[in-house]
This record gives sequence, structure tokens and C-alpha cells, in this order.
Amino acid sequence: MSRINNFNEYEEHCSLAKTDHNAYWSKIAEEFHWYQKWDSVQSGNFNDLNIKWFDGGKTNMSYNCLDRHLESKGDKVALIYEDNDPKIPAKNYTYKELHAEVCRFSNVLKEKGIKKGDRVCFYMSMVPELLVGVLACTRIGAIHSVVFGGFSAKALAGRIQDSDCKILITNDGGYRGDKIIPLKNIADEALETCPSIESMLVMKRTLSETKWNQERDFDLRTLMDAASPICECEQMDSEDPLFILYTSGSTGQPKGLLHTTAGYMVYAKHSFENVFQVEENDIYWCTADIGWITGHTYITYGPLLSGATTVMFEGVPTWPDAGRFWEICDKLKVTHFYTAPTAIRALEACDLSHVTKHSLSTLKVLGSVGEPINEEAWDWYNRNIGKEKCPIVDTWWQTETGGILISPLAGITKLKPAHATLPLPGVLPVLVDPEGKEVEGNPAEGNLCMKTPWPSIARSIWGDHERYKQTYFTTYPGYYFTGDGAKRDEEGFFRITGRVDDVINVSGHRMGTAEVEEAINEHPGVVESAVVGCPHNIKGQGIYAYVICSDKELQKENLHKELNDLIVNMIGPIAKLDDLQITPGLPKTRSGKIMRRILRKIAADDTNNLGDTSTLLNPEIVELLIEGKKK
Ligand code: WTA
Repeated sequence: MSRINNFNEYEEHCSLAKTDHNAYWSKIAEEFHWYQKWDSVQSGNFNDLNIKWFDGGKTNMSYNCLDRHLESKGDKVALIYEDNDPKIPAKNYTYKELHAEVCRFSNVLKEKGIKKGDRVCFYMSMVPELLVGVLACTRIGAIHSVVFGGFSAKALAGRIQDSDCKILITNDGGYRGDKIIPLKNIADEALETCPSIESMLVMKRTLSETKWNQERDFDLRTLMDAASPICECEQMDSEDPLFILYTSGSTGQPKGLLHTTAGYMVYAKHSFENVFQVEENDIYWCTADIGWITGHTYITYGPLLSGATTVMFEGVPTWPDAGRFWEICDKLKVTHFYTAPTAIRALEACDLSHVTKHSLSTLKVLGSVGEPINEEAWDWYNRNIGKEKCPIVDTWWQTETGGILISPLAGITKLKPAHATLPLPGVLPVLVDPEGKEVEGNPAEGNLCMKTPWPSIARSIWGDHERYKQTYFTTYPGYYFTGDGAKRDEEGFFRITGRVDDVINVSGHRMGTAEVEEAINEHPGVVESAVVGCPHNIKGQGIYAYVICSDKELQKENLHKELNDLIVNMIGPIAKLDDLQITPGLPKTRSGKIMRRILRKIAADDTNNLGDTSTLLNPEIVELLIEGKKK
């Protein structure tokens, strides 16, 4: 029932999900293991914001990812782990082995006092213990919060404090190409301001020198080796929290999006199976990091819920050389390859011999995620990697949506370069105009909203339900507002044009301009700043800052370095400025608001049509900014 095999079936699924979504999702949910069946399929809406799916049901994520498969495919490979070092052979974990590892990890957590509802923070590189650890949390009902290993000590501490995590799991160091990221040292610094953390479990990976706090720090492997490989699952209510994942928005500090158990689980499997169309002996590889939502839903949960084989890679695409991804595809016989446009563009810029050396003959389906994929990158991917025989699924979704909402289904939906095409069954996207009226007919353009809840929508922001409401449901009351703009062509195919709010997307990483400004404003010589996205060949968007300085002697190069040091300290290297401009002022409206539209255009050298500047308090600043940009 749940598998869509052709376009007719896709249309049937959409039609049923629209006319009777309770009946539709109930059928899909029946394929899972439940301790107790739900009372109601869906309740709540975008006005009351008390959205529930499968309420009254009891289930367990880890059981559905692992135990459910043990009888039929216990010896099937669940996880293939590819080391950063190409000389080290890949390591396979069968479903049975992964199950035992997860049970051991669960027992370690229990032994450290972790109970249902406690928050567990992970700050790790891509080691198998990260995937094992998040599954272990779900097994015992703890809530995981994975923080990407590229964030700074301050950023990590902020996230730990926000959700009062009780334990931190890290590794001594993480390999990334020829670099070692000193995760434990950064974690030590973060923990100076995190009183809620009782213990830190450390996975020894790089064997780097680290400090050791005898009372607080424990060697994860030693504990796991001593732990039992048997652990009962906790029976979880459908709406019990599953995980928190922090992401950036247009205002303030990152927010902890809260995902709950059953709806997320049902949608992760259903979307994975239908978008990628993975078959029994396929090898599926998503190159994301588990620190982001893509790694949660489409490295870990979706593939394992489906009983597929998922690949996890520790390294980077360009080390030891730019053929690393393609070498892995051949070596592991990868059939499904899912990556981000920024990686495609970076590899496109390298010599083609890095690709042609490898056969890529096992590939069947390619995927793209995280940012709009431009036509040129789409064509390159299609021609050189897919050899014009692999459908490319351009999957649009967000941390908030939990799973893919708009995407072709591989081999089923007609493709159109740079278009995410059509919504998945049960997803009702609309385009609205600035007044919040739905734009009817095709073609059309507007702000992308969703009309009704789907199972994996984030239910809240941790500790701040009001902010959840303000952020997503007040711009257009009654709708979920995505923050993205989109177009719909004559056939109704969607093309996502990018963020329409103050979020920038740098190499597929979401960055709030406010967070970066906050870091810049820490500099004693800075009076005020405004950060915008600017076009960037590889990253999609770069970070461009306009800075007003009190110290007129400050040189641009020195300031650039000092600001980047501050940013690395407060956020992490992913938020470094690509360029900056020292300016005597910023364009402001009479009410004192910075007119960012103008700043974006100047940063993009697109100054022919700046629009109406007559409402500015200081229109003369515009020419100065344009002149300043040229320097
Ligand atoms: C952008 C990543 C165009 C979009 C899964 C969205 C995309 C933000 C696509 C969410 C795509 C993601 N085409 N834009 N296929 N996929 N985006 O939360 O702006 O890290 O709002 O989730 O990435 O980023 P997030």
C-alpha cells in the first residue's frame, strides 16, 4: 500500500490523502510496530497549534528501525561505514550487529542515569557511535540533540543550556580530510558554562591528547564493551518528544525545533521509500552530516525504518582528491547518491578526470538537497555522474518539516532541471501574495506556505511555543509559512527561488543574519552592522557585511580578520564573512529599519533597479554604498 509505483498511483495517493487524510495515513502507519494502536489519526490545526498525529498510540522508533527487521533481515547490512582514510576498508554492520550496538549504548546511557524525557547532547564527527547513540536515545525514550561538529564552544554551550542536557557525548577528535577537529577540547570549554551536564562520554577516535576530568569523563568504548547487548524498548506515546534540532531563523538565537515520535517516524519511512525508490539489494548513500536534519531523516531514520542499507562517510569530498565521492560509489557499489548542490558545484570546478577515472556504473538515482540547484550544476550532475540515465530528485524540505515535502519520485515524476516539481501525498503547498491571499492558477509566483499539517511537522520550539507560533504561523494566519519564495510553472511544477526572510543559505547551511551581526557587533570598533547574502559560485550564497566603524583608522583587511575570529569564536567557521564593506551609514526607513533589499542588491552588483528609495531617511547613502562596493 505504501509504495507508489507509477504516476497513476502517485495521483491516487495524493487524491486519497487530500480527501480523507485520516484513512490515508492510517493505512501507512499500519506497517509499523505498535504496542498500542492510536485513537485518532490527526488532530489540531494551524490555528490552535496543538497538532497531534496517531494520538493515543504507543510505539518505539528504535524497535521499528532495528528489532522489526531482525527476523527477516537480521544478516542484511544495515550500515556501511566509510572511514576518512581511503586505505581503511569500509566496516559493515548487519541489522543484528547494529541492534546489539544500540542496546549496549542504551544500557550505558541508563547506567549514567539517563531516563525517558532527559536530553542527551551529541557533539561528534561522523563516527558510527553517533548513529548508534541517537538510536539508543530513542530506545530508552531520551531526547537527542545533535550539534554539528563545526560549531564553536559558545554555540555548543548555548544549545546545551537551552535544553538543559544531562549528558554530552563527543569524540576526542574528528577526522575531516587532512584535519583533526579537536572536539573534546571544544566540548571542555563549552562545559565550563553548562552546569546541567553530569557526565561526558568520549569516543576515542584520533587518540589526540586531551584533558581528562576523572569525575565527569568516561571512555565510551570501554563502557559499551562492558554493557549488555540486550535492552528492552521504552513504550513511547506517539507525541512524546523524539529529538530537538537547532536551526537558525531570521531573528535572535537558533531555535530548538522539537520533533515527536510517531508522525515523524511514519513520514520518514514513507517519504524515503517513495522519493528514492530503493529496492532490496540497493546501497543508498546520503553525504550529509548527522548534525543536520538531512542526516537525521535520510541517513538514519528513513533508510533504517525501510530496512535498507545506508552508507555513512566520515570524510570530505575533496580529500585525498576530488574523486573521493566517485571512488566510494564504485567501491561500495552505491546505487542511490544524495548530496548538496554546493558539493556538486565544488566538484564541477575540479578536473573532470576525477570523475572519468571511475565507472559510476552502479548508480541508479541521484538526489539534491539543501539549497536551490542551478541549471548548470543540474546538467553537470546529470551528464557526468548520472550518465543521463539516473533520475535526479531535487528534494525540497526544512528542519521544520522533518521530511521531504516537494520532490520528484525517482523514475515516476517527470523531471525538470532546477525544479523540485510536485508535492508528496498529503502535502498541500500554496503560493501566497504579500497580503496572504493564495495565488491561483499557473504560472504563479509567491511565498511558499503549507495549508494543512503533515505527520512530521515540528510540533514546537523547545521551551518556547509562543516563538513557534510567531515564527511560522503569524505572517499568514492559518498557514505554515516556510520562509521560502517559489514559482509554479504551467504544469504546476514548483521551483524554489530561495529564502525571502533574513536567513541565508551558505553551502546548504542555514545562517541567521542576526546571529552573524551579533558576533560582529562585539568588536569594539564596530558601531553597527548589517549582514546579507551575496551570490557565490560554489557556496550558493556567501556572507557579506556592511560595517559602520567608530575607529576611522581600521583597515579593511585587518577588520575582516578580526571579525572572522570573533565569528569563529561565537558561531563557528561556517559563518565566516566572504567580504565586507566599511560604510559611513546604512539605508534606513523613517522608522529606523534597515532596508536590506537595497543592501542585498548592492552586494550582488545588481544596482540598475534598486526600487523605490524615496522612503529612506538617508537616500544619499545609496550612492556612497555603491561607490564603496567598487573599492
Ligand atoms: C533550502 C535542509 C531549494 C530552503 C533539508 C529551505 C532548498 C532551507 C532545497 C531549509 C531545495 C532545502 N531547493 N531550496 N531542494 N532544500 N532548501 O532546515 O531555503 O537546513 O527553507 O533543511 O534550505 O534548510 P534546512
